[in-house]
Amino acid sequence: MKVGFGCDHVAIDLKNILMEHIKEKYGYECVDFGAYDPNVKVDYPVPGQAVGEAIAAGEIDKGVLICGTGIGISLAANKVPGIRAAVCSEPYSAKLTVEHNNANIIAMGARVVGPELAKMIVDNFFDAKFEGGRHQRRVDLISAIEAKYNK
Ligand code: RB5
Repeated sequence: MKVGFGCDHVAIDLKNILMEHIKEKYGYECVDFGAYDPNVKVDYPVPGQAVGEAIAAGEIDKGVLICGTGIGISLAANKVPGIRAAVCSEPYSAKLTVEHNNANIIAMGARVVGPELAKMIVDNFFDAKFEGGRHQRRVDLISAIEAKYNK
C-alpha cells in the first residue's frame, strides 16, 4: 500500500505525526506531497489536487489530506475524477466512509482534531474494507454524476 500525504502550512505537524504513525503501525510506503515549511504558505487546493491526481494516475493507492478544517483540501481533491475524499472528525465516520462510500482519501482538520484522535481516525480508515453490494450501486451513481459533467 502506497499512501500520499498532503497538507497546507497550518497542518504540517499533524501530517508528520500521522505519516510516522502509518509507517510504524502498518508499514505502508508514505509519499509526502507537502507542505513542508510552516513559514511558507501553501494554498490547500495545491496539495489536495496533487494527492487526488496521484491516486487517479495509479501512482498511490490512498490519501490523507489535512488543512485547518479538512474541508478546503477535500473539496479540491474531490474535483479530480475518481476521487472520493471524506472529511472526518471521529473514527466512526472514517470507518463507514470506506465501508459504504469506498472513500479513497481521508481528510481532517488540524484545528479540529488532536493528534491522538487523528491517529484513531486514520486507523479506522485503513482498517476498513468496502462492502460493495448496494453500496457499489450508490458509488456508481456518484460516478455517473461526475461522468455527466466531465464530457
Ligand atoms: C488556512 O488558514 C485555512 O483556510 C485552511 O487550512 C483550511 O481550513 C481551509 O479549508
